[in-house]
Amino acid sequence: MMRIDILTLFPEMIEPIIKESIIGKAIKENKIEIHVINFRDFSNNKHNKVDDYPFGGGSGMLIGIQPIYDALQSIDKKKTTKVILTTPQGQPFNQMKAEELSQEEHLIIICGHYEGIDDRVREHLVDEEISIGDYVLTGGELPALILVDAIIRLLPEVINESSHQNDSFSTRILEHPHYTRPAEFQGMKVPDVLLSGNHKLINRYRMKESLRNTYLKRPDLLKNYSLTDKEKKLLQEIIDEEKQNNKK
Ligand code: ADE
Repeated sequence: MMRIDILTLFPEMIEPIIKESIIGKAIKENKIEIHVINFRDFSNNKHNKVDDYPFGGGSGMLIGIQPIYDALQSIDKKKTTKVILTTPQGQPFNQMKAEELSQEEHLIIICGHYEGIDDRVREHLVDEEISIGDYVLTGGELPALILVDAIIRLLPEVINESSHQNDSFSTRILEHPHYTRPAEFQGMKVPDVLLSGNHKLINRYRMKESLRNTYLKRPDLLKNYSLTDKEKKLLQEIIDEEKQNNKK
């Protein structure tokens, strides 16, 4: 069973979220074990202080290394345990990284903090720094939850396989549109082909609309995606159709 330890100053930001939905269910069903640790509890300071003024001066405070070091020491580690720090300086998180991390036995995620952390933490205690995107948040708690969510759904038996085989980014292009009943709602109709029962046509429609979505919304993804001959043909149709549409 995979295990994740999350080191944070704000366990209340993590605990209620992981109780819910798919993550909550995965924990209940023993598919994953998650421990949330407040590293303030490990502070040597008599007031449980974890931050201090930066050497060399400057504004703000920094989280010191001691409580993080001791919190890490308290965790049972395996040879393969991977320690991650969430920070905007990290490597960008993506589906490939989620897939890679979902293969690990044990992850420790240290939540960064807006004040900053003594750099000896990243230099000596951390294996990998990860950013969830090019924007700056107040702390690493939401990023840690995002990592956990993206990783857990890839674990065997957490979500039935076929529902993520078609995922955006696993297949490296965007999904086709999906519709459910009613077939018509207040004049809004679902595409006829989906009601036709013709699976060959339906597959063609799905492949094409998946390409169209990608072409219109994330053309950058097509650059790294090697198209089959069939897909090339469909993409050309889409390009022609979109040109026609833009003329109208
Ligand atoms: N902490 C603050 N901003 C962050 C980001 N974009 N990714 C990961 N951790 C962060």
